Amino acid sequence: MDIVDAILHDHGEQRRLFAALDEAGEDKDSLGKIFNRLKNHLESHAQAEEQYFYPALLKKGEGAADSESAEETTEDAIGDHNEIAEALEEAAELEVGSDEWWEKVDLANCRNSAHLSEEERQGMPDFRRHVSSDERRKLGIKYLAFQMEHDAHYEREKKDVDEYIEENQAA
Ligand SMILES: [Fe+2]
Ligand SMILES: [Fe+2]
Repeated sequence: MDIVDAILHDHGEQRRLFAALDEAGEDKDSLGKIFNRLKNHLESHAQAEEQYFYPALLKKGEGAADSESAEETTEDAIGDHNEIAEALEEAAELEVGSDEWWEKVDLANCRNSAHLSEEERQGMPDFRRHVSSDERRKLGIKYLAFQMEHDAHYEREKKDVDEYIEENQAA
């Protein structure tokens, strides 16, 4: 279980759940349940990446594609995680299926899809090139175990980007 493959798999699940919201349309009961599942999944996914993916990237990565360094990739990613969670939390306060709710869901979708594309273009190739397959496998199990424990219900705490980088570079 390579952590990069596990993350890629979860990105597919996120795209599927955003698409399911569009399919659910007027069915508010389904909308609420799918949204709830998506929100918990996105928050635990971000936390699991912050615990098991980005610390190793910061230590071994060198930047890839249009990112100059692993630090730049990580800074962007943690900031994106904060902004995605913010849109989801705002949606969670609104009436499911209302125009205002859809506005926040669409915002979360835009932020998340931009983030997935960056992560898949910058962080993941850098990780594949510079972290050994043995380490990727070990981290993959940790990542998966975290997801199994928290995916059903999770609220990630917003992170200070500079503090996160400092702590994980020094560790
Ligand atoms: Fe991700
Ligand atoms: Fe991410």
